[in-house]
Amino acid sequence: MSDGSMLVPPVSLKDGRVVIIRRLQADDKARLLAFGEALPQDDWMYLENDLRSVDTVARLVNASGAEHWRQVVAIDDDKIAAYASVRALTGRASHVANVQLIVGESWRRLGLGRTMGQVIFAKAQKLQATKVVAEMLEAQKSGQAIFSRLGFRIEGTLRNHARDRYWNRHNVVVMATLLN
Ligand SMILES: CC(C)(COP(=O)(O)OP(=O)(O)OC[C@H]1O[C@@H](n2cnc3c(N)ncnc32)[C@H](O)[C@@H]1OP(=O)(O)O)[C@@H](O)C(=O)NCCC(=O)NCCS
Repeated sequence: MSDGSMLVPPVSLKDGRVVIIRRLQADDKARLLAFGEALPQDDWMYLENDLRSVDTVARLVNASGAEHWRQVVAIDDDKIAAYASVRALTGRASHVANVQLIVGESWRRLGLGRTMGQVIFAKAQKLQATKVVAEMLEAQKSGQAIFSRLGFRIEGTLRNHARDRYWNRHNVVVMATLLN
């Protein structure tokens, strides 16, 4: 399957919009930057990578062919509506893959997160990880619903592990599932 191919059939959202889900590709730099710039400020608590940074976005786009890393986007009318990635860790945790998932604000609560979660989890299985982990704020109930449905359970809570732009601290939960 080429980079531009859909990974699943077109997805109809709850409001009738239809998105396609495909791998991130080399010409997605401007689209990914626009997605990052449009995210609500507090979303920076959830993200490992700053999608507002030209350098970071260039690194992600250039890694689109990396063996240990899969990145997937949902496209609505030539805009990125959601981004998900799974990356194998290194060293003693090289059997573990870390998943990230973020849906653009105007596409939330429409079922897109759930579908993107399924797609990126399938990618994790293809990376031959035997454990998949996802970290999110304890208060992020929709994220926990998505990963619970996929079989993830909370393995631990990192207290006061994230801070928002006002320096308020938030607990982070680590969810994980074992494969095989
Ligand atoms: C978490 C996030 C990905 C959810 O995306 P979404 O497209 O809004 O999710 P969906 O519409 O598919 O809803 C997912 C589930 O959450 C449930 N849900 C939605 N809002 C909820 C809420 N406030 N409380 C509890 N459950 C909620 C939905 O009913 C759905 O459950 P179901 O699959 O059992 O029906 C999105 O809010 C986001 O990007 N947040 C910031 C980043 C983040 O926290 N990522 C999570 C982990 S890496």
